[in-house]
Amino acid sequence: MSGEQEPGYYGSYVSVVSAVPRRPKTSLLSETFLSKVANRGALAGRWLRTRQVSSSPHYESRPTESHRHPSPYSAACMLPLLPLIAMTSCPRLVVVSGCGSRGVGLGIARQVLAQDTAAEVVVMARSLERAMSISTELGARAHAVQCDVTSDESCSAAAAACRDLGGAELLALVNNAGFAADLPWFPTPWAAGTASATLAVNLFGAERLTRALLPQLLAAEDGRAVFVSSGGGRMNMRRMGEARRSQLLATGTLTWDDIITLAAAFTAEYESAAAAQTPDAPLPILSASGLWLQAYGFSKACLAAYCQVLAREQPSLLCVTCSPGWVKTEMSSTYAGDAVLRSVDEGGEVAAWLACGERRELSTGFYQPDRSRVSWVAD
Ligand SMILES: NC(=O)c1ccc[n+]([C@@H]2O[C@H](COP(=O)([O-])OP(=O)(O)OC[C@H]3O[C@@H](n4cnc5c(N)ncnc54)[C@H](OP(=O)(O)O)[C@@H]3O)[C@@H](O)[C@H]2O)c1
Repeated sequence: MSGEQEPGYYGSYVSVVSAVPRRPKTSLLSETFLSKVANRGALAGRWLRTRQVSSSPHYESRPTESHRHPSPYSAACMLPLLPLIAMTSCPRLVVVSGCGSRGVGLGIARQVLAQDTAAEVVVMARSLERAMSISTELGARAHAVQCDVTSDESCSAAAAACRDLGGAELLALVNNAGFAADLPWFPTPWAAGTASATLAVNLFGAERLTRALLPQLLAAEDGRAVFVSSGGGRMNMRRMGEARRSQLLATGTLTWDDIITLAAAFTAEYESAAAAQTPDAPLPILSASGLWLQAYGFSKACLAAYCQVLAREQPSLLCVTCSPGWVKTEMSSTYAGDAVLRSVDEGGEVAAWLACGERRELSTGFYQPDRSRVSWVAD
């Protein structure tokens, strides 16, 4: 969060217009088109069959408007129309992790529903109860799914729950779940375990959930992976030594294994520096190997590098990173400075736009809350 611009920089909040439907409406009798129609017909059939009230320990799905007001036509009459129905009304899912605290995640979910009337949201939280209370509040286009991003089992179950929503295309995953224990205004000494706890959620958790949902994202016509980062990530990039920075910026050759190795080095250096802190020499410091020892910013710097690695490895997927700005949430609740914090709806705006805005306007990069695309390193 450190390194965000002052709130006034972003200007006032503007409600966003509905997105133009992206589905093709005219026929193009190409092979690709016909296969898409067949695929959509199958999807729509599955959707019509499976869209009903369901519940499991991991998720809850409620009937949509179409169930409350059943069509006067029988399913058999509708069969010839399925491809067309699918092309115009197959819902697009946007999954948002880390909504349980009603922070930026809730703002993103609300903004997705406002910006894209064809979208449905999957509200994820570690507590299914919390997710359900939020999805109920959001209405018929919201679904609740339990997910702890630090658990393989939980992420797999969450991915299966998204698949079970039946026929909806997974348009976007917004990796919003986050953890912070060493923000600049947090009292020192910072605990030695902060590095591993922060990386577990902000970096490894985001990668784990992305990996679990990747097949569905790749199957979508316009799949997107959105990573909620922070100006603190760009600031950490600026403060680390040149060699380390170059390592993270070498995204033409960098691999996920390289990022894991770097994160392990960071954790070891953080732990020993944390143990050596004194009241006169607290963290953060620049380590001998050139790492700026603040775990929150480092985790977001690595997250941005992972976003670029993923973009290179999965060129059909739009991979983007963004900052919500300074937002009034649980994470910022102990901040006592002068900055005016934004509402969660303002904070959620840019991630929602990246998840469902016009694809041709977007490319891999770091987006600020005002939708401008900036470099990976703070100026
Ligand atoms: N607030 C700001 O000013 C600000 C600025 C820059 C960036 N950000 C970023 O915005 C995102 C949202 O933060 P926030 O401000 O809304 O903070 P927050 O209110 O503390 O929300 C963080 C969310 O992450 C979830 N989470 C934590 N550990 C998790 C885990 N293991 N598995 C799944 N979810 C987990 C939390 O849990 P539950 O959902 O289970 O409750 C919570 O909903 C974070 O990525 C943060 O780094 C925030």
